[in-house]
Amino acid sequence: MKIPDSLKPSGNEEERLLTELDANKLPQHIAVIMDGNGRWAQRRHLPRIAGHRAGVQSARAIIETCARLHIPALTLYAFSMENWRRPKAEIDFLMRLLREYLRKELPVIHRNNIRFMVIGRPDQLPEAVRADVDRAMQQTAGNSGMQLAVALNYGGRAELVDAFNSLVKAAACNGGIDHLRVDEHSIAQHLYTRHLPDPDLVIRTSGEMRLSNFLLWQLAYAEIYVTPTLWPDFRGQHLLEAIAEYQKRERRYGGLVNAHHGNGAGSHSHDN
Ligand code: FPP
Repeated sequence: MKIPDSLKPSGNEEERLLTELDANKLPQHIAVIMDGNGRWAQRRHLPRIAGHRAGVQSARAIIETCARLHIPALTLYAFSMENWRRPKAEIDFLMRLLREYLRKELPVIHRNNIRFMVIGRPDQLPEAVRADVDRAMQQTAGNSGMQLAVALNYGGRAELVDAFNSLVKAAACNGGIDHLRVDEHSIAQHLYTRHLPDPDLVIRTSGEMRLSNFLLWQLAYAEIYVTPTLWPDFRGQHLLEAIAEYQKRERRYGGLVNAHHGNGAGSHSHDN
């Protein structure tokens, strides 16, 4: 891949990886399950929150690398609905960290033409977090560059429940239940991610082989990349490695090699 002028690789390895990428085969949407902050801290005999703080630096690096590669969409799994089961002190710290991140990084995000959005159920988030998130979404709503979605109080099954309820409500407001049309297209139109393409690549750090209730509908055909690297150690170079691996894979969508992929078609076989 020809290195864009704007991209200044931070090391030789990054530069080498970049030259090996095919610019015409970049994923259009990358989704990341950021995992391993706690283990990273534990290995250093530090409190878990030190791992989360270090994890923010990884998030910054990955957002920057994706934006420079002109990846159209990036989704980061920051706080799941299951995460409420953690100790209150850790939850409070994560919420504070998110607000601090937004305060510091919003100008940079905005300057880089990135559109910020949150997916999940915002109503259960602390009022102050909601206010900051709303401000960030409003301020960047007109940006036309990379779409950055942060999953906050997010659950994949809850998203499907919300989508079905929204579909039924829309039908009720639009002539009654006889107007309810349920198909793949209409469901996708009521997901939190309705403005985003489905992810082509999902990355999970720290070695766990699970989706953990993340984007269950949208990841149907995504390539899955699991790395043992813990999230606070994950940097641009690791992202480029993941993309290089993605480009080596042969995507068939249940069809045959070289077969055309029709978006959202309902005719996939189940062998893929
Ligand atoms: C997983 O580590 C990570 C999280 C719970 C999400 C928090 C993510 C960050 C703080 C990164 C910053 C993100 C943004 C958008 C600013 P874990 O605690 O589950 O690790 P463990 O499995 O090793 O315990």
